[in-house]
Amino acid sequence: MALVEEKDFGTPARRSEQNVTLTIDGQRTTVRAGTSILRAAAECGTEIPKLCSTDSLEAFGSCRLCLVEIEGRAGTPASCTTPVVEGMIVRTQTDRLARIRRGVMELYISDHPLDCLTCAANGDCELQDMAGAVGLREVRYGYAGENHLADVKDQSNPYFTYDPAKCIVCSRCVRACDEVQGTFALTIAGRGFESRVAASAGEAFLDSECVSCGACVQACPTATLIEKSVIEIGQPEHSVVTTCAYCGVGCSFKAEMRGDTVVRMVPYKDGKANHGHSCVKGRFAWGYTTHRERILKPMIRERIEDPWREVSWDEAIGRVASEFKRIQTQYGPRAIGGITSSRCTDEETFLLQKLVRAGFGNNNIDTCARVCHSPTGYGLKTTFGTSAGTQDFDSVEQADVIVVMGANPTDGHPVFASRMKQRLRQGAKLIVIDPRRIDLVHTPHIDAAWHLPLQPGTNVAMLTAFAHVIVTEGLVNEEFVKARCDLAAFEEWTAFVREPRNSPEAMADITGVPADTIRSAARLYATGGNAAFYYGLGITEHSQGSTAVIAIANLAMATGNIGRPGVGVNPLRGQNNVQGSCDMGSFPHELSGYRHISDAATRSLFEADWGTHLDDEPGLRISNMLDSAIGGRFKGLYIQGEDIAQSDPDTTHVIDGLKAMECVVVQDIFLCETAHYAHVFLPGSTFLEKDGTFINAERRIQRVRKVMEPRNGLADWEITLAIAKAMGYPMHYDHPSQIMDEIARLTPTFSGVSFERLDELGSIQWPCNEKAPEGTPVMHMGGFVRGLGNFVITEYVPTDERTGPRFPLLLTTGRILSQYNVGAQTRRTKNIVWHEEDKLEIHPHDAEQRGIRTGDWVKLQSRSGATSLRAVVTDRVAPGVVYTTFHHPDTQANVVTTDYSDWATNCPEYKVTAVQVSPSNGPTDWQRAYEAESAHNTRIAETLAAAE
Ligand code: SF4
Ligand code: SF4
Ligand code: SF4
Ligand code: FES
Repeated sequence: MALVEEKDFGTPARRSEQNVTLTIDGQRTTVRAGTSILRAAAECGTEIPKLCSTDSLEAFGSCRLCLVEIEGRAGTPASCTTPVVEGMIVRTQTDRLARIRRGVMELYISDHPLDCLTCAANGDCELQDMAGAVGLREVRYGYAGENHLADVKDQSNPYFTYDPAKCIVCSRCVRACDEVQGTFALTIAGRGFESRVAASAGEAFLDSECVSCGACVQACPTATLIEKSVIEIGQPEHSVVTTCAYCGVGCSFKAEMRGDTVVRMVPYKDGKANHGHSCVKGRFAWGYTTHRERILKPMIRERIEDPWREVSWDEAIGRVASEFKRIQTQYGPRAIGGITSSRCTDEETFLLQKLVRAGFGNNNIDTCARVCHSPTGYGLKTTFGTSAGTQDFDSVEQADVIVVMGANPTDGHPVFASRMKQRLRQGAKLIVIDPRRIDLVHTPHIDAAWHLPLQPGTNVAMLTAFAHVIVTEGLVNEEFVKARCDLAAFEEWTAFVREPRNSPEAMADITGVPADTIRSAARLYATGGNAAFYYGLGITEHSQGSTAVIAIANLAMATGNIGRPGVGVNPLRGQNNVQGSCDMGSFPHELSGYRHISDAATRSLFEADWGTHLDDEPGLRISNMLDSAIGGRFKGLYIQGEDIAQSDPDTTHVIDGLKAMECVVVQDIFLCETAHYAHVFLPGSTFLEKDGTFINAERRIQRVRKVMEPRNGLADWEITLAIAKAMGYPMHYDHPSQIMDEIARLTPTFSGVSFERLDELGSIQWPCNEKAPEGTPVMHMGGFVRGLGNFVITEYVPTDERTGPRFPLLLTTGRILSQYNVGAQTRRTKNIVWHEEDKLEIHPHDAEQRGIRTGDWVKLQSRSGATSLRAVVTDRVAPGVVYTTFHHPDTQANVVTTDYSDWATNCPEYKVTAVQVSPSNGPTDWQRAYEAESAHNTRIAETLAAAE
């Protein structure tokens, strides 16, 4: 196997409709108008030496290495900054050019360490390559002159180093940070010979504004900015293209390997979701895959109070099967169930729901999407007819107005946020609707047109007030509505939203946002050109989560902002495969492709293929399984890659449910919180250890490719197969591609998908079938999946969770860039330097009333429970609102969240909890006990690792 090489064309591709024909070194070539000579040459196989240009960045023209001669023009212009012209005749190789290029290289090399043989970039250094390409044999100026060889390295970043002695001041890093990442953390400080790259105001990288995306490292042509892993392990020898296992953006990476060790993850330029960019998690935070705390052997125990006992795979699988069969005999076939994981592949998810439906003989299957985006599924299916976002990410490039609501893309979906920021810097208008002043509101070269800091829990009121403005001010796109929507439903809806009680004036007190601000933002959405909604869990995790999704869909239909590029309704999916886990039939009432289990025709299709009878009754949701366990009827649960004891609401209720079961099987890579209540622990595999597919937030199906053998011995899909066989329902697959073939056979929206096709096309956005053999980037073009778009009335119903004298503040929660969900992976990487603990943000007014200062320990108390954490006093949150992240189990924000949930889907209301905050002396009793137990577990893991 070799390294996957990606050609660098020097400057970005142009999209012009017009072509230009020119001659380069006697060869006629035709390229898009606006293309640089450098790129035109590269496209026809002529490599012009270059240093300061690369095709992910606009040309800068500073190194003077790419000079060419153009017939009829004086001088030697830089080919990277000179666009092609019809009929142009270019020469790239002449004696004069060779002399100039050698002279340029001499100057660079005279101020560069001569340590090529011992340099970590040896073999992967463009300076080295260019010295060879221009035929440099000697440096006339010697090396004794003024130079930077003694400049001090900056090693502060945990993942990369900056060695100024090797810097050629090409500014590729600065431009990568500006153009690609949009953080503007780097500058070239000083002038002339003194010029050097500076992070922020000359700070160490770690202390600067740098968010560690690594774009500068990737852009650097020398070893100046280089991954520490390359220095430690050496240059990679081969690579495999795979997909990030963190968030729903779904970035493609080349896993670059030396032997079976990952040297680095390099974002793949051909990745359709990320176009060669990444964030700190995908690029750098893969160390958890080999972390010493990973469990690699199956373990069982009789009672959850007993110590774990390592056993063989056979014994563990045998225990699962015998216990599940015993429970079914004793308590009935519906006494067991399963939970799929949005971290696992589509194929693994499909297998697990198949095991439950066909092997267990019931529909007690649910997924962690229940606790995040189930309202998206319900809301979009009700209005548009299908449960997925409407656009591809590229669509944002054509948006004129971008609404971000209940989402924090720069932390939660950073690579897409960078794309969004590029469009905003080009002039698109931004409306942020969020209780918190997220970074996007004011970020370099971007200022939101409107920030609407609404009270948590009032999304539906806000969205319906938007609708009121649009309907009463005559801003409805009548033509679109008449052509595409159900007119009776539309009339009913307009009559409802017109009511004065839905006006911004009436809603101002409820939302906390002045009426004229709501009116202005609504007008901008309706009249500003292509308008696109992007939303996250701040929309869905509410008692009216589904209603809010419907309200957004109503707005898109009323204004005609649906069914073409640049517009749409776009849920920013949280986990890497949350879309896939829903698509694969993880919900108790739906088979793959969102077809109801009660539909006899669909059922019979599966029954014929699976050779078994399927229960036509929808099964239990996660919360119902727990209730039923507490009620003594539900006794066994197979949980794949999901930590419900930490991620689900009302932790006490979850724990009571788990404790009430007789056989809890947890399959995970670490001994997670839920494993404390398990009887069998099956060690799971990581994304690097298996084949399969993930589906990202834009419905894009992408390959996950095995880069190393599973350290635990079995990939997750193989574990499920073993359980199925032991339960007496053997399934036969030699490779996950065969599972995808079955998915395609049984799911109309996937009928054109196969691993071969994915390898051929790179990725596919479903629906992919005879009508759309290469997939569907933008949905609902020409017509909605359900036929006519369905307007639905969105009555605002305040949550039952109310503030009062005892709990006067509203808590809302979110994520931080460096950490991921419950932190099981990211806390086991060096990302921990950016976020050692969860903190509570509180407004200065509320803090002063309570005598709280930044850094103080505070107690966060709700009706459900209490936890303690440190405070940060900030006006990012509005008065009356507090905010925290939920990445650390020793804080457990979910101890305080309630068991209120979305009326339609049971998605928990994580985003609104009435709380009180008061000064405290430190962690609560349960937190101290937890810390002690964690330290104990860590010592055991270290002892076991040392013994191995
Ligand atoms: S650090 Fe690298 S990319 Fe940046 S200016 Fe120096 S050589 Fe160029
Ligand atoms: S790592 Fe990313 S954010 Fe940091 S300086 Fe480099 S490009 Fe900028
Ligand atoms: S944006 Fe998401 S998918 Fe992309 S690298 Fe970061 S965590 Fe991975
Ligand atoms: S590559 Fe054109 S001037 Fe540097």
